[in-house]
Amino acid sequence: MCGIVGYVGSRQATPILMNGLSVLEYRGYDSAGICVQNGRLTTIRAEGKLVELEKKVKRFESHGTCGIAHTRWATHGVPEERNAHPHRDCTGSIALVHNGIIENYQELKADLMSTGHLFSSDTDSEVLAHMIEERMKNEMPLLQAVEDTLAHVRGTYGLVVVSKDVPQTLIAARMGSPLVIGVGEDEHYIASDPSALIAYTKDVIYLDDGEIAVVTSEGVHLNGSPSALTGSRQSKIDWDVEETTKGGHPHFMLKEIMEQPKVIEDSLRGRMDLIHGRCILGGLEGIQDRLAQIDRIVIVGCGSAYYAGLVGEYLIEEIAGIPVEVELASEFRYRKPLISERTAVLAISQSGETADTLEAIREAKRKHALTLGLVNTVGSSIARETDAGVYNHAGPEVGVASTKAFVSQLTTLTLIAIYLGQLRGVHERTHALLAGLAELPKQVQEILDHREQILEAVTSLGSTEHCLFLGRKFHAPIAYEGALKLKEVSYVHAEGYTSGEMKHGPIALIDKSFPSIVLCPKDSMFEKTWSNIEELKARGGMIIAITTDRESVGSLVDACIEIPQTLEELQPILSVIPTQLLAYEMAVARSLDPDKPRNLAKSVTVE
Ligand code: AGP
Repeated sequence: MCGIVGYVGSRQATPILMNGLSVLEYRGYDSAGICVQNGRLTTIRAEGKLVELEKKVKRFESHGTCGIAHTRWATHGVPEERNAHPHRDCTGSIALVHNGIIENYQELKADLMSTGHLFSSDTDSEVLAHMIEERMKNEMPLLQAVEDTLAHVRGTYGLVVVSKDVPQTLIAARMGSPLVIGVGEDEHYIASDPSALIAYTKDVIYLDDGEIAVVTSEGVHLNGSPSALTGSRQSKIDWDVEETTKGGHPHFMLKEIMEQPKVIEDSLRGRMDLIHGRCILGGLEGIQDRLAQIDRIVIVGCGSAYYAGLVGEYLIEEIAGIPVEVELASEFRYRKPLISERTAVLAISQSGETADTLEAIREAKRKHALTLGLVNTVGSSIARETDAGVYNHAGPEVGVASTKAFVSQLTTLTLIAIYLGQLRGVHERTHALLAGLAELPKQVQEILDHREQILEAVTSLGSTEHCLFLGRKFHAPIAYEGALKLKEVSYVHAEGYTSGEMKHGPIALIDKSFPSIVLCPKDSMFEKTWSNIEELKARGGMIIAITTDRESVGSLVDACIEIPQTLEELQPILSVIPTQLLAYEMAVARSLDPDKPRNLAKSVTVE
C-alpha cells in the first residue's frame, strides 16, 4: 500500500523524508519519490526499491526544510518513474503525494487537457496537481484551490500538497485514506502511518475524513480555522521505535511470532481479576446498558481478521450465549444486512484502516446498529468511527502476514466473550477461562522453544505445491488461517477445510503426493478427527498432525507437532502457532522474503 511522509520545520527535510519512507517499506511498493521546497521545488523519483531513490538523492542537491515523499503501490499506471509520486502541475509550481483512488479522474483529465494541460503520467493522482494549478492561475490561494479541487473529486484520498510560492507550508487532506500529523518542537510531520514518524515524536493528530489541514512549523490549522489545533485533538502513540525494527531476527514475521508470549500478556494486562473471577474492559464500560440489550452480534472482518471472527463466534455463543454471525466485510457492505439497533456489529481489524471493514461499519451505523471495534492501531479510522471498542495492544505489526495480531485478536475475543457473559450473569466458565488465559504465555513459549518440530514438518512437505489444512469446531478457522499463512508467504496452494467436509468432495484430491495438515488436539472433536486421519491414511495421503497428544496419533502420521493442552476454548491460540512457524519456514526454505510477499500489502485501504 502507498506510503506518505511530509516534514516542515527548521531541519533539512530530505533525511527525515527518506527515513520515513524506509520505515514504510514494509507496506509494499514499486516506486518512490521526494520533493523538497527551497524557493523552488526539487523533485526526485525512482522506479523500484528505495535504494534506487537513495542513489539519485545522493546525486542531486535537495536542500530545504519543507518537503513531501511517497512510496507507490500501483493502482493506475505501470510502476515506472513517470508514474511515481510526487506529481506536479505543468509549471512545476505544485507538487503532491496521494494515497487512494480518484474515481472520476478520466473526465477531470479530459477537461484539463482540453484547456491545454500537459500530463506526464497515467495516474489518477496527477489530475489533482493540474486542478490546483488551474485554480491558482485564477488568483485562488493555495488552501482554497485545494478545497475547491477536492470538492470536484469523487473517490478517496490521503493527500499532501506543497507549492513553491507558499514557503514552509504543507496542505494535508483526508478522505478514506489515513493521514496522521506528528507534533514536534517548532516542526511538524505528516505520514500515512504513525510508524514513519515515531522516531521524532509520539504526539500525533489523526485527521478525520473531510478535514484539510494547513501545516507549518508553528502549528496545524484545520479547515481554514484562524486558531491552531490544540492538544485536545492530540493522542500519544503507545509503542516505541525499536518495536518497528527486527530486534535481531532475520525477518519481522519471525520477530512477531517469537514475541507472542509478551503480546498475550499485553492483551490481558489490567483486564482480568483472577480473585473475583471478573473481566474488565474499560473500552466497553460506557455502553454496558446498550450491550445488555443486544440480541445478536455480527462480526465483520477480512482475511485473518475474519478467521479470528469465526473463532469469536464459537467463543461468544458458548461462553455468553449470544447468537453470532460472521461476515466477510467485503460482502456485508454490499448486502442489505438485516440489522437493527439491537444488533452489535463488531469490526476486527489490525490496521483499523481496511477499506471494506471500515465501510461495513459505516453501513452498520446507517442501520443504527451498535458498532464495536477490536483494533490494534490506536486512533485508526475504525477505532474512531465505532461507538466503542477494545484495543489489542499487540504493538505495531510490520510483517505483511498477520501473526501476533491474530493471536492477540483471539485472546481479546475470549475476554470479550467472558465480559458479555458477565453482563448476562453467566459466570460458570469464567474462573477456569481466566486461569487458562493466564497460562497461555508460558505455553506459547513452550511451543516456540521446540521449533525443531516444525523443520521436520517442512522436510515432510518438501517441494509440494498443494496441501490441505483440516480442523473441526474451534479449529476449523485455524485450518483456514493456517492455509492463508502458507499461501501468502510461501505461495503454496493451500486450502483450509472443516474435516467433516472431506467426504463431500475434497478427499478426491488425496493420494501419496498430496499432504494434509490436521489440527487434532485432544478435545471434544478428537475421535471424529481421528477418523478423518484414518480416511486420509487409507488413501495414501501424507499427514502432518498438530496435536496435544503425540502418543495418540504419532503412529498414524508422517510428522507430528506436539503442543500443550489447554481448555478447548483457548486451544486455537496454541494450535495456530505451529501453522505460523510452518508458513515462515516454508518461505525461507524457498528463498522467499516472508516480510514482503509478492502482490500483497499490509493494509488494504483501497477496495
Ligand atoms: C493476513 O495475514 C493478511 N495480511 C490479511 O488477510 C489481513 O488479515 C487482512 O487484510 C485484514 O487486515 P486488517 O486486520 O488490518 O483489517
